[in-house]
Amino acid sequence: MSKQQYSHPDTVCIHAGKTGLNPHGALATPLYQTSTFVFDSAEQGAARFAGEEPGYIYTRLGNPTTRELELKVAALEGMEDAAATATGMGAVAAATMAFLQQGDHLIASKAIYGCSFALFNHQFARYGIEVSFVDMTDHNAIKQALKPNTQMIFAETPINPTLTVLDLEFIGQFAKQHQLISVIDNTFLTPLLQKPADYGIDLILHSATKYLNGHGDVVAGIIVGSTERITQIKLTTLKDMGATISPHDAWLIIRGLKTLSVRMERHCQNAQKVAEFLEAHPAIGQVYYPGLKSHPGYKFIGKQMKAAGGVLAFELNGSLDDGRYFINQCKLLSLAVSLGDAESLIQHPASMTHSPYTAEERQMAGISDGLIRISVGLEHVEDIIADLKQALTLMQQRQQIAIV
Ligand SMILES: Cc1ncc(COP(=O)(O)O)c(C=O)c1O
Repeated sequence: MSKQQYSHPDTVCIHAGKTGLNPHGALATPLYQTSTFVFDSAEQGAARFAGEEPGYIYTRLGNPTTRELELKVAALEGMEDAAATATGMGAVAAATMAFLQQGDHLIASKAIYGCSFALFNHQFARYGIEVSFVDMTDHNAIKQALKPNTQMIFAETPINPTLTVLDLEFIGQFAKQHQLISVIDNTFLTPLLQKPADYGIDLILHSATKYLNGHGDVVAGIIVGSTERITQIKLTTLKDMGATISPHDAWLIIRGLKTLSVRMERHCQNAQKVAEFLEAHPAIGQVYYPGLKSHPGYKFIGKQMKAAGGVLAFELNGSLDDGRYFINQCKLLSLAVSLGDAESLIQHPASMTHSPYTAEERQMAGISDGLIRISVGLEHVEDIIADLKQALTLMQQRQQIAIV
């Protein structure tokens, strides 16, 4: 861990995790863009491989730039250690597969990011790992899913893309009571808005592609947990499957993290105003954003989560075709998947991020064909709203013409 403890997360984002490997005193973290590290002697190389001497060997096994990122995010989440990965999916795969084996059972939320669902539903079956997908807002359903061979429980909250909020206290307690490893994907809120470790969650992971980096120029992930569990991940599914992060990407995320606190504040403020605008617009049906009083997740604000985050979703009063037309009319909002960037992004989950689900599976997960997701960016909120307004007006005019 970093030598100094800071009481405010804003300061942790900037100063935590310094490894002390900075021979010239550079202010910015040095980028160790190297694949391998030279040993002083054959004896030293052997000692490092044997784990008898600390020091770097080869970047797939560890790198000083990557290490700073890991220590920083571990400090932010309030946990002992972290392992950075090549992508968010690298984190999901490494964190789960390090602990599950043939014959084990996993309880997963029925609504999760599309590729996490694909990994559990399609790949795990090939390796003999059984998965029950459960509505985790229903605590009885979680209890009923428990089997003698259940080893792990996996969820994300708020859920992508429905923004359903799950009760972390219940999940943490349930896992402890039944000796399960609990894993929470904290991508949507970041440790600044939600700290699953406070509820006894064992492993927390992120697609660092999103808010942690925040600039849309990296794909990466990170897993946070106890020293013991992170060491197991590093020595098994990371070392041998190899989804380790590039030091350059780690360096970019360290840079991005310096502004995480101010970015999250603006993302949340903008998303709240956009959600309120959409909720009041006659062309919009339901708006899904936990910052709205009408959302069932609102009761968790100020408790489990400090604020509602920067992502929202909504249903248009219209057909799938109207939805496509509306998205195509947006000029400032970019039609793109991903989230957490400075740019506002708009996408259609059923045909994009959640297309690994079949139509029935999407229905079960509450992802309708008309659902549209926005990652509200850092532009001036009036410009974001103006763009949505003009696209909605054009869609309404087209609907009128179709009726006539
Ligand atoms: C909640 C969540 N978890 C995991 C991932 C996977 O991350 P990556 O795209 O960095 O592999 C995503 C990607 O959108 C996501 O939204």
